[in-house]
Amino acid sequence: MRLARVFVPLVLIGYGAGLASMAFLRDRAILESVHAVFASLALVGFITGAVLGGRLARGAGLRLRAAHLLAGSLALLFGLGSVVAGLAILP
Ligand code: HEM
Repeated sequence: MRLARVFVPLVLIGYGAGLASMAFLRDRAILESVHAVFASLALVGFITGAVLGGRLARGAGLRLRAAHLLAGSLALLFGLGSVVAGLAILP
């Protein structure tokens, strides 16, 4: 949980920085790349995982545990996809 408190905001900042770089530094259309698709799916997964993790920590039913596991694992998978797609669009 300590790591997640740092990691999830960093993903949010990275996502925003990617969009800002496309729009303001390079004057390119945003959210049209394969990288953006993977990054957006990863972002949704990490946020879902974080919300579910917070509920688990506050004692919510253990049924949420499987959903938390699924959201986090998919987020990591999509994050890996965004790394590969990100390397492909490096300037
Ligand atoms: C090693 C990993 C990564 C590399 C090498 C990478 C690289 C890049 C590059 C080169 C751009 C284009 C910026 C520009 O041309 O000015 C970009 C955009 C972007 N990045 Fe990443 N990135 C990585 C990981 C991530 C992750 C993990 C996220 C979020 C989960 C993310 C979110 C974004 C977003 C949202 C954009 C804007 C894309 C668009 O609007 O089409 N990136 N990234």
